[in-house]
Amino acid sequence: MTLRMSGITKSFLGVTVLHGVDLDVTAGEVHAVVGENGAGKSTLLKVLSGVHEPDAGTIEIDGRRHRFGSPRHAQDAGVAIIHQEFTLVPERTVAQNVFLGREPVRRGLVDVARMARDTAELLAEVGETGFGPHEVVRRLSVAQQQVVEIVKALATQARIVAMDEPTAALADHEVALLTDLIRRLTARGIAVLYVSHRMPEIFALSDRITVLKDGARVTTRPTAELDPPTLVGLMVGRELAAYYPPRGREFGEVRLEVRAGGTPALRGIDLTVRAGEVVGVAGLQGAGRTELLRAIFGADPFTAGEVRLDGTPVRLTSPRRAITAGVALVTEDRKAEGLALSRSVRENALLVLQAVFRRRARIGAARTRDLLEAVGLRSTGPDQEVRFLSGGNQQKVVLAKWLAADPRVLLLDEPTRGIDVGAKAAVHELVREQAASGVAVLLVCSELPELIGMSDRIVVLHDGEPAGELPAGAAEEDVMALATGGHPAARPDERAEVPR
Ligand SMILES: Nc1ncnc2c1ncn2[C@@H]1O[C@H](COP(=O)(O)OP(=O)(O)OP(=O)(O)O)[C@@H](O)[C@H]1O
Ligand SMILES: [Mg+2]
Repeated sequence: MTLRMSGITKSFLGVTVLHGVDLDVTAGEVHAVVGENGAGKSTLLKVLSGVHEPDAGTIEIDGRRHRFGSPRHAQDAGVAIIHQEFTLVPERTVAQNVFLGREPVRRGLVDVARMARDTAELLAEVGETGFGPHEVVRRLSVAQQQVVEIVKALATQARIVAMDEPTAALADHEVALLTDLIRRLTARGIAVLYVSHRMPEIFALSDRITVLKDGARVTTRPTAELDPPTLVGLMVGRELAAYYPPRGREFGEVRLEVRAGGTPALRGIDLTVRAGEVVGVAGLQGAGRTELLRAIFGADPFTAGEVRLDGTPVRLTSPRRAITAGVALVTEDRKAEGLALSRSVRENALLVLQAVFRRRARIGAARTRDLLEAVGLRSTGPDQEVRFLSGGNQQKVVLAKWLAADPRVLLLDEPTRGIDVGAKAAVHELVREQAASGVAVLLVCSELPELIGMSDRIVVLHDGEPAGELPAGAAEEDVMALATGGHPAARPDERAEVPR
C-alpha cells in the first residue's frame, strides 16, 4: 500500500497555508511530519482525512485517485485520523465511542453486545490497556483515552493512521506505551503519519521525516540521515542554543508558602517558593500536580492548611481572589479553561487584565503585544479569532495573557505543551525573565528533561503527598524513583548543565 499526496494546496479566506505539498507513506512506515507552530501540519492531515478539501492537488492510494469530500469518504478509503484535540464523548463508554456514528444494527436496534465484543477484541489486540469496553471515557487517564482514539481508528479497518500530536498530553512513561502500540500497528502493515514536537520520539519512531515551513515542504529524508540539531535547524531556519537558560543564582524572600495544605486529592502539602525561584513539581499522572496548582489558584481551593503570600496569610477561595492577589495559572487544557475560542487574539490576550486590573489594561496592551511577539505568535493579526489559530499558537496566547498580568506567583501547568522547539526556547527565556524580576514560579511539566532543565529545585509528589525534594540538575532516575514511591539512589553530586 502506498499513499501519495501531490501538490496539496489549501487557503483559508485568501491566506494560503499549504503550498503544493508532496508527501508519500508506505505500508508499515512511520512518516513524521514536523515544523513550527502554524507550519500547516494539522491542515495537511485534515486534507488527508477529508475534513478539508484541498484547493489543488491529488490524493492517491495504490495508484487510485481519491476525492475526500468528508471524513466519511476518507474512512471508507482506509484513512483514520487522531486529531490534535480529543474528539471522544466523555460521558459515553469506550465501546460507544469506538463505534460512534457507525453503530452496528441488528433487527433495527443498535447491537450493543456486538459493539462490546468487537471493542474487547480490539483492546486485546493493542495490548494491556487496563480498561474494558464498558468503562466510561471520562474515567480514563489521558493516555488511556489516546488508546481509545487508536482503537477507534482500528475499528474502521484503517490502513493509514494519521496522528496529530498524540503524545502531547502524555507523561514520559505513557509515551512508551503509545510507542509500543504504534510499532504493533506498523508490524501489521499500517502506514502511520505522525505529527509531533517531541524530538526523542520522532527519532525513536519514524522511518522518514518531512519538514514543513510556512506551508511548504522543506525536505523529506530518512530519519537515519538526520540528527536532532540538524532537524531543528531545518524547521526553525536558524541555530538554537542547545542549553536551557541559566538558573537563578540568588533568591529573595519567600513569596509563596503552603503549610499542611490539604484537599480531597492532596495531603500534607508543605511548600515554599522564593522570589526568583522556579520550583518544579514532578509526579506521575494522578499524583496531584495539577490539583496542587489548582488549589493554590483557588479553583479547587485547599480545605485544610494555610497559604501565605509574601508572609501574609491569604484565603484564595476562588480564581478571582487568587488573580487579584497576584497569582496566575497557565493551564494545560486551553480549550476548557484557557481561551475564549470565538474571540479574537487581542480580546483573549487582554482577558485577564480587563477582568481584574481595569486601570492597568492600557499598559498591559502594549506588554501583551511584546509578549506575543517574543513567543513568535503566528496569526493573521490581532483580530483573528483564536479558534482559527494552530494548536501551538493558541497556547502562546494563553501564556501571554497571564504574563501580561504581572503576577507575583506564576503557576505553570504544562506551559509548553504543543509549542514548537523554537518557541519553547522563547518560553523558557520568558519564564526565567519572570523569575529574575522576582516572580515565584511553580512549574509542572511532564517532559522530565525540560522540568529538570528549568527548575531550581524539584518537589516530587506521589499519590497526593510530597515524596521528597531534589536540587537543581537532579538525575531523571532520582525524580522517577521518588515519583514511583521509592528512594533516589545515592550517587555523587552531578549538577551538570542540562542539554535541551
Ligand atoms: N479553519 C481555518 N481558518 C483559517 N485559518 C486556519 C484554519 N485552520 C488553520 N488555519 C491557519 O493555517 C495555518 C496552519 O495551521 P495548522 O493548524 O495546520 O498548523 P500546525 O502546523 O498544525 O501548527 P501547530 O504545531 O501549532 O499545531 C495557521 O496559520 C492557522 O492559523
Ligand atoms: Mg497542529
